[in-house]
Amino acid sequence: MQELKQQIDKDRLPHHVGVIMDGNGRWAQGQGKPRVFGHHSAVEAVRATVEGCAELGVGYLTLYAFSTENWDRPEMEVGALMQLLVDTIGSEMKMMLDNGIRLATIGDTAGLPEATRDALAFGIEQTSQGDGMTLILALNYSGKWDLARAARQLALEVGAGRMQAEAVDEAALSARLSTHAYPDPELIIRTSGEHRLSNFFLWQAAYAEFYFSPVFWPEFRKPDLYAAFVDFQQRERRFGKTSEQLKQATNP
Ligand code: IPE
Ligand code: IPE
Ligand code: MG
Repeated sequence: MQELKQQIDKDRLPHHVGVIMDGNGRWAQGQGKPRVFGHHSAVEAVRATVEGCAELGVGYLTLYAFSTENWDRPEMEVGALMQLLVDTIGSEMKMMLDNGIRLATIGDTAGLPEATRDALAFGIEQTSQGDGMTLILALNYSGKWDLARAARQLALEVGAGRMQAEAVDEAALSARLSTHAYPDPELIIRTSGEHRLSNFFLWQAAYAEFYFSPVFWPEFRKPDLYAAFVDFQQRERRFGKTSEQLKQATNP
């Protein structure tokens, strides 16, 4: 583990990392346990990932914790996930404060149960002085929701005469997304061997690097995170340019 960590160049860290935490249910079922056992066991992976990113100096970490589609799961499972959020904010408060973390959320949090909203508000308030990493929980979030909301906002502003229709451009739309205050994610990790975005950062992932881990989320630990960073740093991010152009820019 030490070796992998030493391979990471601290000057070339992704500023914003997104994680699609997946595989809790299959991990539990593989051991003959109920799916919610997987969700409870996942807290350990959350802690390792949050600590690992904060220690390295990542600026923003977004954890995709509940999608707008996840409401379609059995009521008992949804209830357990909502309660787990309440419990985890309490149990991880010291860890967040010790690491200088500032908690934030994106998504339609008004649609969450009251106890969950209260716990989130408490967590955000308690960690508001954090001067380290911003931990963003994506809750009742989806990329389509985010884009539709931004489009609606623009339409309302144009309709009210506060904005010209011709002024609607990429920057104007970006500025109305829930992530407007954060840089776009440079690295998106998905666990459990699935290779899809499942309605996560549709707009924001335009130039993200994807890292897919076969590990089920409850077993994801710091070495798995470090492996993702090492892989990320070995990639050539061309942003539409040629490899030669990039080499010229670094060795003029
Ligand atoms: C991720 O694990 C947790 C959430 C989506 C809330 P899953 O619950 O999706 O686990 P699998 O994919 O069914 O194994
Ligand atoms: C994506 O996982 C959502 C979160 C991690 C919150 P899912 O398990 O819900 O995604 P699908 O249904 O397999 O695409
Ligand atoms: Mg899943």
